Amino acid sequence: MTFAELHLHLEGTLEPEHAFQLAERNHITLPWRDVDDLRSRYDYGCLQDFLDIYYANMEVLRTGEDFAELTDAYLARAAKAGVVRAEVFLDVQAHLARGVSAETVLGGVSEALRESESNHGVSSGLIVTFLRHLPAEDAERAYDQALATGVELLGIGLCSSEVGFPAAPFAPLWERARADGLHTVAHAGEEGDASYVWEALRDLKVERVDHGIRAMEDPTLVAHLRDNRIPLTACPLSNVRLKAVPSMAAHPLSAMLDAGLLVTVNSDDPAYFGGYLDDNIAAVCSEFGLTELQVATLANNSIEASFLSPAEKAQLLS
Ligand code: ADE
Ligand code: ZN
Repeated sequence: MTFAELHLHLEGTLEPEHAFQLAERNHITLPWRDVDDLRSRYDYGCLQDFLDIYYANMEVLRTGEDFAELTDAYLARAAKAGVVRAEVFLDVQAHLARGVSAETVLGGVSEALRESESNHGVSSGLIVTFLRHLPAEDAERAYDQALATGVELLGIGLCSSEVGFPAAPFAPLWERARADGLHTVAHAGEEGDASYVWEALRDLKVERVDHGIRAMEDPTLVAHLRDNRIPLTACPLSNVRLKAVPSMAAHPLSAMLDAGLLVTVNSDDPAYFGGYLDDNIAAVCSEFGLTELQVATLANNSIEASFLSPAEKAQLLS
């Protein structure tokens, strides 16, 4: 079966071995003894525990070559997982904050994405993400710098710490990106409750909600998402690892399918959460005993929820 992967942070594909290789190449000392020490820390109490390690490891990504290599390694692995379309997130703002230029970051990533179809049979698009724990003005400056590179963007997204950081201040930037012809998404309802999903829809007018699993706590919201075919990009292994749900058995994926939601399965930060898209599909199949038809629904949902043109979607769905 073939899938579109719609919720994937490129920096979250940095495998521990690759992080240490890049640290050596770039003469950077990571705050971990070795690969095993780093891996031993992948037992998180919450989203912030993970983000602290995720941002620390970004330090090793310095050159365009580093970003191209990271992106290409993900595309190769995603192709093996059955991914034919990848709409990937890039935390450009986090790299700017540590002194790596937008040209370096976007140049390297776009070099690999340009070849994604010919090298891996994966069509791709780039969504630059902004950090909701920082002021919206910082995000606006990062957006300006990303645009100035001339690298083609598919959309913008919002991520990082959720609870206590409202979406409303980002509304002008989301409006601006739409006027620039870009698609818009946002993480919501991962650690925050259903009100964060409402807020992303109302204030940011997003086309897709990333995670959105806590929408299930609000029947009115579920009906709204279902009736308007608003996609949700669930990431089951991530949600379990980050304790957004207490266990896979408690994950709402199966209930989301039963409710007729346009839910998709994605890997989020696969190097940190124990697996890529195929591993996520295997995990939900084994937990919920999904039928062949339900897996096909997840595959078709992912194509429908992508930002491909209607003609491209029809071709993949056939
Ligand atoms: N950045 C990278 N992964 C993330 C996640 N799962 N939630 C919020 N921000 C992120
Ligand atoms: Zn995410």
